[in-house]
Amino acid sequence: MKKKLRVGIIAGGRSAEHEVSLQSAKNIIDALDRDRFEPVLVGIDKNGRWLLLDSGNFLLDADDPARISLLPSGSPAALLHYAGIVSEAGTPAAVDVVFPVLHGPYGEDGTVQGLLKTAGIPFVGPSVLSSAAGMDKDVMKRLLRDAGIPIGKFIALSSHEKIPSFEETAASLGCPVFIKPANMGSSVGISKVRNGEEYRAALEEAFRYDTKIVMEEFIRGRELECAVLGNREPLASLPGEVKPARDFYSYEAKYLDEKGAVLEIPARLPEETVQEVKALALKTFKVLCCEGLSRVDLFLCEDEGGGSSPVKRPRLFVNEINTMPGFTRVSMYPKLWEASGVSYTELITRLIDLAMERFKREQSLKTSAAF
Ligand SMILES: Nc1ncnc2c1ncn2[C@@H]1O[C@H](COP(=O)(O)OP(=O)(O)O)[C@@H](O)[C@H]1O
Ligand SMILES: [Mg+2]
Repeated sequence: MKKKLRVGIIAGGRSAEHEVSLQSAKNIIDALDRDRFEPVLVGIDKNGRWLLLDSGNFLLDADDPARISLLPSGSPAALLHYAGIVSEAGTPAAVDVVFPVLHGPYGEDGTVQGLLKTAGIPFVGPSVLSSAAGMDKDVMKRLLRDAGIPIGKFIALSSHEKIPSFEETAASLGCPVFIKPANMGSSVGISKVRNGEEYRAALEEAFRYDTKIVMEEFIRGRELECAVLGNREPLASLPGEVKPARDFYSYEAKYLDEKGAVLEIPARLPEETVQEVKALALKTFKVLCCEGLSRVDLFLCEDEGGGSSPVKRPRLFVNEINTMPGFTRVSMYPKLWEASGVSYTELITRLIDLAMERFKREQSLKTSAAF
């Protein structure tokens, strides 16, 4: 019988999505095809410590999304070059491939990906460049704009630069304005502002999380999400729709309030729009050089806008890419694939196979000019 691949699942992390990541890890371990794979669990606690834990017993309050946490009893773990994950206590737990189920800063932003790449371990999801570019809303938007992908108007601002007045910003972006930290996620630090007072408070809030922020025009539209899977010939899923109950899809609506948003999977859309969304999601994925997986989030403006202006506004805008989207059984990304005919277990298997395929391809490249 073929040797089982040991899959390192890295979960938790220092971001606001620590808890979601733990749920995703548990769901992945439960669904993993045990004929082919064996899980090895590494939890990263909120202080950034890596702990090797029993993959069958690594959580406290596993069934309570608000209280779920890592068992504090694991042995400290580290990555060894070309040896996989090992624990400091001396029992090496080598892995063949890693699934970094981490979201947000210190996980989805290329940092962990860089560590894994340096250690010579194949891993699931986009590599260093795409993860970092996808995380930085300013850099991501500039790359998309350069490729002719429709995005909303935006201004990026660093903390050392002169801050324009609300009136100046509203004159170029309209009102309301969205203000966000450039590198974050989960809607943390995001505000929608309508006047000078809200503007000042929102800037202060966004600058608490990053030294760079983005200010964006408000796009009135339906929020669509499309899952992309693959390496060099990626596939796009059917789109889904998020219907936030309140003003926008806030942190509360995502994680705290059960009635904060309704997910419609698949979204009710005419076939032509489905094809447009898929094409735009695939183009976004390719422009950002992604491999493995990503979820592309878009706005669909029903009213074609433009008013009396001769310039017709596009109907679809890309809002952002998530290179390691929520991966619990009920998260949008796996649900979209389920609706498109790929089960949760099959999806995990395909992602691991894609990680191995990329690694082999990269291994075959020369790293020096030696003959
Ligand atoms: N320019 C915008 N126009 C309208 N709504 C927006 C805009 N930007 C963000 N939003 C709302 O805020 C939510 C979070 O913003 P997003 O850019 O997706 O940040 P995050 O990376 O934290 O998810 C979106 O899902 C949407 O509801
Ligand atoms: Mg988002």
